[in-house]
Amino acid sequence: MHSLQCALQVQRSLRWGPMASVSWLSLRMCTAHSSLSSTTCPNPERQEDGARKDFSSRLATGPTLQHFLRSASAPQEKLSSEMEDPPPYLMKDELLGSQRKVYLETYGCQMNVNDTEIAWSILQKSGYLRTSNLQEADVILLVTCSIREKAEQTIWNRLHQLKVLKTRRLRSRVPLRIGILGCMAERLKEEILNREKMVDVLAGPDAYRDLPRLLAVAESGQQAANVLLSLDETYADVMPVQTSPSATSAFVSIMRGCDNMCTYCIVPFTRGRERSRPVASILEEVRKLSEQVLQLIHERENICKQIHLPAQSGSSRVLEAMRRGYSREAYVELVHHIRESIPGVSLSSDFIAGFCGETEEDHVQTVSLLREVQYNMGFLFAYSMRQKTRAYHRLKDDVPEEVKLRRLEELITVFREEATKANQTSVGCTQLVLVEGLSKRSATDLCGRNDGNLKVIFPDAEMEDVNNPGHRVRAQPGDYVLVQITSASSQTLKGHVLCRTTLKDSSAYC
Ligand code: 5AD
Repeated sequence: MHSLQCALQVQRSLRWGPMASVSWLSLRMCTAHSSLSSTTCPNPERQEDGARKDFSSRLATGPTLQHFLRSASAPQEKLSSEMEDPPPYLMKDELLGSQRKVYLETYGCQMNVNDTEIAWSILQKSGYLRTSNLQEADVILLVTCSIREKAEQTIWNRLHQLKVLKTRRLRSRVPLRIGILGCMAERLKEEILNREKMVDVLAGPDAYRDLPRLLAVAESGQQAANVLLSLDETYADVMPVQTSPSATSAFVSIMRGCDNMCTYCIVPFTRGRERSRPVASILEEVRKLSEQVLQLIHERENICKQIHLPAQSGSSRVLEAMRRGYSREAYVELVHHIRESIPGVSLSSDFIAGFCGETEEDHVQTVSLLREVQYNMGFLFAYSMRQKTRAYHRLKDDVPEEVKLRRLEELITVFREEATKANQTSVGCTQLVLVEGLSKRSATDLCGRNDGNLKVIFPDAEMEDVNNPGHRVRAQPGDYVLVQITSASSQTLKGHVLCRTTLKDSSAYC
């Protein structure tokens, strides 16, 4: 059956009310699966005949639950609005947001926070703008929760408030569209459309790719819905856009749905079958987040420019025996990437000397990695076999104790030589130091940390306060001070304090 007929069918069925809900759902099968045989998608005339027959006989010949779940082999790589032709009843540009402003409101769990980001990512690519001002919005989307009755009641109450916005909207503006997304859309389906006529769009948790189309249908004044559940939708290719610029955390979703069927819980029915996101797409998202972290460390004065990258060994052979998941080459490449992204970054690492099977050649490789990277801080250990570990069961602790200790000594010596060289480049510089308190070794010295998290020791003396000229102060824990560095060892810098300052005032210094 041609999808245009399906489209007509959906628009009529929505006006017919509950009896038409089967055809409404069949429509979505037609558009989602052109490969399905036409028998799953009856034509309009037969549908009207069918509506007159009694419900149970129609039910027997109608689609089963499986028909409402997309086939597990359906491709997932692309955004329907981006890559595929639009349905024949919509022009391509009708799928575009035309700079309409979307206001998204999230209720419930962390999955809904993630869903909000996915929905926004899809709409953004379709040309929608986002607003955090409800009054400015052309489209209001509620990402809803059904977990308990109260959660749904909150949404119904919110809808009553939004109704006022819609009815009072100035005629000079484009009509306000309201959408219900997520679990409540899935659970109540057309009950929402029937109960609240001012809801324009319904999209279940697996239907966010369809949002541009649903909103385009809503533009023509029709209600539009897609509450199909999927066996395999994970939005793997949709990189979530973090919706709140002030958000302090980001979530990486690795799976959707739930198969547990706890006896009290609606989630398996609203979010559908459990499915995992492909590992490659999880890794890609984490990689992007890591890039953002590097960028932030580079940009922000209030984030210390120090990264701990525990290498454990410089030999790819030993790294494999340790099951670290990277080679020496990959590690070195990461170091270069970090140094390019954050010039002047301070690096620290952990190393183990004498792991099972470590040869003299492996050890030399670790020495050479210490020289190559020139860490600012290091934590070096002789290997000690621990019960229950994989190495305990599968490998042999075959490096003699005295060899382990000799290798450890060599690593410590090389680390110290290199760290001293690296730290001595600070001598003569004026550095911003965050004061921690008294030095452990001397009651007349203070101790703090520079931007590379390295200890800086300086005499506890009176100093000028940059924000209060002419006023002499003593540094307190939590203060920022400028310290002129006069000497450096592998562990600490020493210097004398110049003045008390602030992060903002000090950004010009090295
Ligand atoms: N023997 C020696 N060092 C170990 N570490 C962890 N397990 C062992 C072990 N069995 C070191 C690693 C790790 C750090 C916290 O402790 O270098 O990064």
